[in-house]
Amino acid sequence: MSTVAESIFSPATAERFDKLVTIYPVKRSALVPMLLYAQDDLGYVTDAAVSEIAQRLDLLELDVRNVLSYYSMLRTKPAGKFNVQVCTNISCMIVGGYDVLDHCKKRLGIGHKEVTADGQFSLEEVECIGACCWAPAMQVNYDFHENLTPEKVDAILDDYAAGRGKDVK
Ligand code: FES
Repeated sequence: MSTVAESIFSPATAERFDKLVTIYPVKRSALVPMLLYAQDDLGYVTDAAVSEIAQRLDLLELDVRNVLSYYSMLRTKPAGKFNVQVCTNISCMIVGGYDVLDHCKKRLGIGHKEVTADGQFSLEEVECIGACCWAPAMQVNYDFHENLTPEKVDAILDDYAAGRGKDVK
């Protein structure tokens, strides 16, 4: 049973949150996982999500917003259906990370943290995504794409646009 009378989240997420608040010695430790699950559930972290999470964790909404604004992987606005995150941290930077990012900007016609007019793609420049051995790398939603070149990026984006991307259901 949910710990809030009327959850704004899907039943599965509400159930997950009910469990999350019980597994940490301090309730507040569930905050970052909850924000990530909320984002997956709703597409971004809405004001209503902030309010419910604060209630669930006995925090002030301000406490939740302070954490929300700290982590760049958390969004307060909708992303595109396919969120393209290009790493420009050191390993990627020295083998063409910025070329990949610039190519994505040109190809999609959007900049950092922007969404294409049709809502299909959004773009972000991000720090290390843990794929340094296969740099330059990017992530589209939860899928990694590595050893990138502008040509490879084109093929990957074509695949997503055509519904053939790795995580297209
Ligand atoms: S520096 Fe780009 S994945 Fe680590």
